[in-house]
Amino acid sequence: MIQTLMEESTIAALRQRIKEARQAGKTIGFVPTMGYLHDGHASLVRAAREQADFVVMSIFVNPLQFGPNEDLSRYPRDLEHDRKVAKAAGVDLLFTPSVEEMYPSRVLTNITVSQVSEPLCGKSRPGHFDGVATVVMKLFQIVQPDLAFFGQKDAQQVAVVEQMVRDLSVPVQIVRCPIIREEDGLAMSSRNVYLNEEERKQATILYQTLQHVRSSIVTKQPLDRIIAEMKNMISTQPLADIDYAEILRYPDLTAVKEWKSGEQVLVALAVRFGRTRLIDNMILTIS
Ligand code: PAF
Repeated sequence: MIQTLMEESTIAALRQRIKEARQAGKTIGFVPTMGYLHDGHASLVRAAREQADFVVMSIFVNPLQFGPNEDLSRYPRDLEHDRKVAKAAGVDLLFTPSVEEMYPSRVLTNITVSQVSEPLCGKSRPGHFDGVATVVMKLFQIVQPDLAFFGQKDAQQVAVVEQMVRDLSVPVQIVRCPIIREEDGLAMSSRNVYLNEEERKQATILYQTLQHVRSSIVTKQPLDRIIAEMKNMISTQPLADIDYAEILRYPDLTAVKEWKSGEQVLVALAVRFGRTRLIDNMILTIS
C-alpha cells in the first residue's frame, strides 16, 4: 500500500485529523522532532508504526529551548527533505506549525522539572529543559497521543519528560528508543552537519570513549579514575573541548556515591568541536 502523508500547520486542523483517526478506532503514536530528519528520527517512526495505528510527527524548531547565544537562527532546516523522510518512514500526519501558531502571544506559563533538569546539559544550557518540557507538554495537549517516542541520545530529555508525565499524570506512555549511530560510531544528530571534515573525524572519540570505559564501570573501578580516563581520552583529539564527562544514576540523575548492583547509570558526554556541541551517552546496569 502506498503511504499518503497528510500535513497540517494549524492546531485546529491537526486536531480534526486526529479526531477522525480516533473515531476510526486508531491508537495515536507521536514523534516530536525539530526536523532535519535522519535515520535516528526514522527509527522512532518505525517504532511508532509497530506500536500504534496512526503516527503523528511534529516538526517545530522550538525557540523556547534555545539560549540567547545558541544556534536557533542557524539550526538546520529542510522541510522538503523532511517530508520525504517522514513519508518513507511511515508517518501518517505531519504537523508543521509556525512559531506564531504555537506561540501567538508571549508565553507566560513555563514547566520546570527540578532535579533531573539541573545537572549535565541543564548546567551548560540554563533554561533549556524548561523550554523542552513546556513545548512537549503543549504538543501532548495538541496531539493527545497514546504513545510518544523519544531517542535515548537525549537521555536527560527523556528523564525530564518521563518525570513530567509522572508528576502531572499526563495520559501518555513514553517509549525510549535506542541511539542510532553512523558506521564509525558517531551518534546521529541534526547538528552533525555543522562539523567540518577534521571535526567530523575527531568526533568519533565520543563513542570510542564510551566503549573504552564500559568494562571499567562493569568491573566497578573507582569513579574518579573512570572520569579522569574519559577526559584524558577525549583530550587526545586536539579539536575537542570538553563541556562535561559525567556518570550519574539514571533516570533520577543523582550522584553515584558507590556502585550498587542492579542500579542503572548514565555515562554522559558533551564535547564541543569548533562551534558545534555534541552529546552522547551510554546507559549501563551495574552487575
Ligand atoms: O529532541 C528534540 O528534537 C526536541 O527537544 C523536542 C523533543 C522535539 C522538543 O522540541
